[in-house]
Amino acid sequence: MPHLPVLSVASELYPLVKTGGLADVAGALPGALRREGIAVSTLLPGYPTVLGGLCRAEAAHDFADLFGGPARLLSGRAKGLDLFVLDAPHLYARPGNPYLGPDGADWPDNALRFAALSFVGARLGQGLLPGYRPAAVHCHDWQAGLVPAFLHYGGGARPDTVLTVHNLAFQGVFPAELLPALGLPDRALHVDGVEFHGAIGFLKAGLRLADRITTVSPTYASEICSPEAGMGLDGLLRGRADLLTGILNGIDVDTWNPATDPHLAARYGAADPASRAANKRALQARFGLAELADAPLFGLISRLSWQKGVDLLLEALSVLLAEGGQLALLGAGDPALEAACAEAAARAPGRVGCLIGYDEGLAHLIQAGSDALLVPSRFEPCGLTQLCALRYGAVPVVARVGGLADTVIDANPAGLAAGASTGVQFAPATATALEYAIRRATSLFRDRTTWAQIQANGMAADVSWAAPARAYAVLLREVTAR
Ligand code: ADP
Ligand code: GLC
Repeated sequence: MPHLPVLSVASELYPLVKTGGLADVAGALPGALRREGIAVSTLLPGYPTVLGGLCRAEAAHDFADLFGGPARLLSGRAKGLDLFVLDAPHLYARPGNPYLGPDGADWPDNALRFAALSFVGARLGQGLLPGYRPAAVHCHDWQAGLVPAFLHYGGGARPDTVLTVHNLAFQGVFPAELLPALGLPDRALHVDGVEFHGAIGFLKAGLRLADRITTVSPTYASEICSPEAGMGLDGLLRGRADLLTGILNGIDVDTWNPATDPHLAARYGAADPASRAANKRALQARFGLAELADAPLFGLISRLSWQKGVDLLLEALSVLLAEGGQLALLGAGDPALEAACAEAAARAPGRVGCLIGYDEGLAHLIQAGSDALLVPSRFEPCGLTQLCALRYGAVPVVARVGGLADTVIDANPAGLAAGASTGVQFAPATATALEYAIRRATSLFRDRTTWAQIQANGMAADVSWAAPARAYAVLLREVTAR
């Protein structure tokens, strides 16, 4: 049977451009879907790093004027993936973060930049290129949210659309006056179209007009239908709940493989977790922590934002230290949180190490050298660092929200008795509950047999893309078979 052609539209893709987990998903899911008989091509904005990483690039289409300037659509490959890259210098020829200018604020023309991406995604879906007609367009987050709108209001062929929500906190809301500049008709500014509280909502439009909606964990799928977590979109989501599914993310188990990982001081597998000790020493050295084999070493790898609850950890830090623990924190983001982390490290030299920045290789060493990996998020659609932690034998200590609730089995008496536990969960997402979780984790750590069992359970968990890709394949076949 020929592969089912699907166009994925994303604003990030690892390893070409990444600010978070969306890039990991967009980079790994196509390979996993190929094994399920789905041939994914991905449309990306032509940021400098994307153009630089594109191999065998060929011009596929010219736009004389695409939202304010000439543009070319290129087709090519990178890292084994089929790509379309939108080379539109007036929109994307800017180095650094794909969304923010050098002042740390959103680029003022982000509406046009991602409307252009969505517009071209829609046109590709309608057969812009001779010989290429995808059965479905898979749109990721608000940056691709207008694809279903351009298809709906544009006339012509209508491929099926699936919108995946990676994070409802980012909605792409812009002034209504931009509507003509986006090339959408007046009637689109309607509650059943792109209108969101008098403005234009890119994510809202996608949620309203896509044929199917997915998000990245079953628990987050249910959370976002409630006013507490729905961020103003829960009413719409409840109305379309029959079209909404939660499919957990996986991780790329080749990139994240402790047996072959080039970033580690020592490589190891589930059979020899004791070899992690050399990574713990390397991690302690890298973060300026005392080289204590018996101190429970907590790691954290995160964007520094309110979502991630790093402030809760700073509040709970005195308990972590009183329990004899150490902390190795790698993160970047909100300047106030960056400063607070740096201060915490300065107050506890040798016990707390914070590196502010983005360092892919160091993230791997933290997974391999920490005893426990903290994810104290206030909300978390899926979360990937706890999945990497399971695979690397760092016991995840997580808030019981979203995908964290779905991927970690708490070391409560029932979980331990069943031999199933893989980590520690806490709720609600408060400093007090986190303190209690840290105490639980350290006391489990000191019970070597139980800890080894929890670690082994985690390392045996399937965190690959195999099962999620099967679920996406079923959904894509279902939606295109209608
Ligand atoms: P989110 O997408 O909300 O940021 P995820 O857990 O889904 O959260 O994905 C985050 C990804 O980014 C993971 O691959 C993680 O390892 C990586 N990451 C986050 N912060 C850093 C950092 N400072 N340095 C290196 N990698 C990071
Ligand atoms: C978002 C979410 C994160 C998720 C990632 C990939 O950035 O915050 O929880 O893992 O997308 O789906």
